[in-house]
Amino acid sequence: MTDREADLAQVKGLIRDIPDFPKPGILFKDITPLLGDATGFRTAIELMASAVDGPTPEYIVGTESRGFIFGAALAYELGAGFIPVRKPGKLPADVHSAEYELEYGTDALEVHRDALHQGARTLIVDDLLATGGTARATADLLRRLGAEMLGYCFVLELTFLNARQQMTDAPVTALIQY
Ligand code: PRP
Ligand code: MG
Repeated sequence: MTDREADLAQVKGLIRDIPDFPKPGILFKDITPLLGDATGFRTAIELMASAVDGPTPEYIVGTESRGFIFGAALAYELGAGFIPVRKPGKLPADVHSAEYELEYGTDALEVHRDALHQGARTLIVDDLLATGGTARATADLLRRLGAEMLGYCFVLELTFLNARQQMTDAPVTALIQY
């Protein structure tokens, strides 16, 4: 086993399955044991940082709320700024808003209109890529700001939902795939 494989196994071993959450039939991937493990959390951030190739991001864009945890740590590790994309009504200054589909109905995400300069090199970070609705809405906001998107970086990807196929605008990286 290479060092990288051992690191990935360590991270994977700290993600637990919770059956029937938030609804019957859903197997929830719980990252809280990973966050609570000092070595495991650091390993996850280092693996995300080493997955960044090409130009260094000037900004990590993290999506509320679990994207804040990994995104802020990765921004610190890379020496980048952190831009929060938030749920509606949380950001105090003028915002752009992007709607996305939920299983029942829609939700929205917001970013400050003055958060990024034109052409800012950005990387979108979140804990999980499931349907991709959250990530696509975040990318939509970055396009409206005129930012450059270097890619998407996730801890987990649920591959059976095929979100990647609709994310052709930038490279998608995920440490662990289910
Ligand atoms: C979860 C997860 C991702 C998103 C992935 O966030 O943290 O952001 O769902 O799903 P998708 O690819 O189908 O959009 P959630 O909205 O549950 O909120 P949280 O981060 O505040 O827990
Ligand atoms: Mg989330």
